[in-house]
Amino acid sequence: MRRLLVLLFRTSLTTVFITALFGCSRIDHKQSALDPKGLVSQNQYDVFMLSVWITIFLFCAVGGCLLFVLWKYRAKSKEEAMEIPPQSHGNSKIETSLILVSAVILVILAIPTLQGVVLMNRVPDANDEQTLKKLNLDRSQIEGAITVNVTGKRFFWIFEYPQFGIVTANELVFPASKAVRINLRTEDVIHSFWVPKLAGKMDLMPGQENFMWFIADQEKILSGKPTTEAMPSVFDGKMRQTVFAKQKFSDEFEPVGGLFYGQCAEYCGNSHAYMSFRALAQTDEDFDSWVKRFQNSQNPNLQPSAYNPEKQYKKGSIVTFADKSLGDQVQREFRSTKKITKGEAPNISGKSWAKAHSDDYEIGKQLFSSLQCVQCHAVNRTGIGAKGPNLTLYGLRTSLAAGWMRNDEESLSTWLKNSNEVKFGNLMWNGEGVDDTHPLRQLENDDEKVNQLIAYLLGQI
Ligand code: CUA
Repeated sequence: MRRLLVLLFRTSLTTVFITALFGCSRIDHKQSALDPKGLVSQNQYDVFMLSVWITIFLFCAVGGCLLFVLWKYRAKSKEEAMEIPPQSHGNSKIETSLILVSAVILVILAIPTLQGVVLMNRVPDANDEQTLKKLNLDRSQIEGAITVNVTGKRFFWIFEYPQFGIVTANELVFPASKAVRINLRTEDVIHSFWVPKLAGKMDLMPGQENFMWFIADQEKILSGKPTTEAMPSVFDGKMRQTVFAKQKFSDEFEPVGGLFYGQCAEYCGNSHAYMSFRALAQTDEDFDSWVKRFQNSQNPNLQPSAYNPEKQYKKGSIVTFADKSLGDQVQREFRSTKKITKGEAPNISGKSWAKAHSDDYEIGKQLFSSLQCVQCHAVNRTGIGAKGPNLTLYGLRTSLAAGWMRNDEESLSTWLKNSNEVKFGNLMWNGEGVDDTHPLRQLENDDEKVNQLIAYLLGQI
């Protein structure tokens, strides 16, 4: 009896300890699959909880039987303790029924698991009213689905929107009310795409295209708050402002609505842990505005052209024209402040044209080419490179270095000066052809150039 009490005491101590340990971690942690905010993740959560309850039931049943037997058949006296109990060999009835019960439990688990696998691998058919009804989806949510081609690279993400002809990196903007089809591929090693609150993991395999999809639960994102607060808009920088105002970078919870954390979930090299990203949910209108801005920014036909003295210009037109004060052959962008008549060339001191950007921005733009950044990064219409993350409208991003740092002057300066210290093994610092003679590696002690690059990059809005 005493031993049994000691055993019980130890068990309860362990339980208290484990409970305390789990108490330290909240289920709404930013990368928690236990706080589903989408249909697919909710389904996976339900399957998980079913198996948890079955496990708890089994634990109690087996543990209860054990305790019962220990109590019932305990030795009640010293003599009894010395006796050898009658020996028997199994009990085929109990054994058979246990096997049957196990099989039934497996079937109970298998049905929703297989249904979940089917759900995860295929967006429901828009014409399949029965399924849509069961999933509580509206036809328009499927018909208006967007597609994102995700490419994993060491150590960042490319997000291409084939329907809209635009490309971005590391921040996946999507409409909260619509299904999002995700085509996954990699250009180097295996990665894994994981936004815990929206959907489960799926690997990106060399030479193979994988697929998954998700749809956010708009009700849960809004949770009764006004839309502008629950889902700040990305296209005009409100999301960035809200994130910066509310969130410490180390925040482990989700203080800003519509912001979901994503992470590469398959070891892919030394900076695998830093290969994160963000998924930003938007209202339909805000998403459309974001797409429009991106399309305009990535449209080569909308690039400001050189000033033409034979042309008249409307107020607000942007042209490029030489600005000797910035150096020989430097073309700067000018914006007309009124209607321009023929032959009225941009002139800094003139009243008809104004500088479209600061001097730092224009010098930063030159540096972006001369320091060879353009070889890997496309920025709006100017870059040609695609080896590194696309930086179109970079000033609207909330994070930098693949979701790893806050995208502000301070972090950007740290990153530009020595990105290897932030993200060991990254290819901007360690890629082919980058050695100690590369101009990028000379930035460490050059605050002026770094600040000019920052003015240019964050000026992409
Ligand atoms: Cu990419 Cu781990």
